Amino acid sequence: MDDKLAGVITQDERDAVMAPMVDAMSLPAQAYAGDAWYALEVDRVFARNWTGILFACELHDPGDVKPFDLFDMPLVAVRGSDGRLRVFHNIVPYDGCQAVMAERKGLAEIESYYHGLVYDLSGKLIRAPYWNTDPNAGPEALEGREGDLAEIASEERMGVLFINLDGKAGAIDDWLDPWRNLVGGEYAIDRLVPALDAEGKPLIEKRTVQANWKTYQENASINLLHEAFTHELYRKSPEVPRVSEDGEPRFELAMEGSLVAFAHSRQMSGQTYPPIVLPTAGHDITVAPDWGFFTTLYPNINVPLLDAFMKVNIAVPTAPGVTELQHLRFYAPEAVTHADFLAEEAAVQELFDVVHHEDRIAIEAVQSARRSPVWRQHYYAPFWDDLHHRFNQLVMADMERG
Ligand SMILES: [Fe+2]
Repeated sequence: MDDKLAGVITQDERDAVMAPMVDAMSLPAQAYAGDAWYALEVDRVFARNWTGILFACELHDPGDVKPFDLFDMPLVAVRGSDGRLRVFHNIVPYDGCQAVMAERKGLAEIESYYHGLVYDLSGKLIRAPYWNTDPNAGPEALEGREGDLAEIASEERMGVLFINLDGKAGAIDDWLDPWRNLVGGEYAIDRLVPALDAEGKPLIEKRTVQANWKTYQENASINLLHEAFTHELYRKSPEVPRVSEDGEPRFELAMEGSLVAFAHSRQMSGQTYPPIVLPTAGHDITVAPDWGFFTTLYPNINVPLLDAFMKVNIAVPTAPGVTELQHLRFYAPEAVTHADFLAEEAAVQELFDVVHHEDRIAIEAVQSARRSPVWRQHYYAPFWDDLHHRFNQLVMADMERG
């Protein structure tokens, strides 16, 4: 263990996380509430991996720009004239001021507020008026000094803008392949489109939970046993908890690379979920997919897929105990133009309002209880907790990569 890691976890705690599940323990309390752990996690988990940051449809057209803070850094997303979404450090090299101060739509170029330096939509400095006294000065006026905005590796997939801060994560499709292979046979993931309101605005829900990002992820699409106790929807179901009378699981696990997921067939859970009214998200829109999925893409995305929709949840931490969430559902194009779409989408949202509220109570209570002096790490229920165990091991493995 390197010195930085040894400062935030003991060897025994680390070994317990990496043990086979029957003997394993979770990440320790300080991994969920400690500033030192969190700072190391930004470097070793978030900077190294493909991290989802926002929904691409927020920047729909060329020239749409959106400044935002991530891990205490000012960044800006820009949709280029070539249609590509890019992310830059939002700072002008010359004056150290933010290049983009506010969200804007349809800009032809970016004129910086402080000294009027002008950028094209790919972050290149194109004019520097009066920088060398010439009102028409171009970038050559800087005589080789760096003028461009610093770009961060970014990719748009599944409606999400992902970034890789250290630029070494490798091809995003390699990271995404296990997920695509799991869900792509049942769901037509490449043709799904975001839910929009009557004015054409994406129906993105944004909210804050007072809990560590891992506490949120460990609950959202990973925790199987809580469903029957925390959620009214599942309490009513004869099929949840997801175990049959003879002790067989009513779920199948999928764990490969970044993917931490479970699947349930119509046979396993057909009586649990509300009936489908809209064209489905399957390859045949008239037929419900046989399987539903709760998928987590390590580190910070989780994506349930069920019947008519794929719901994408983005979890971005702003502090050890605070996580900003963004949610959006994606449907078949035939569903969003269906006469009942807005009513159905509102009904689904109402259902999720309840589910989110029920989960928030649980995860904020877990976060609060991490202060207890008698709790260091928890053990797992071997029947239920493979996914939680796997997720904790993915975090630990990244933290160990010095
Ligand atoms: Fe839940």
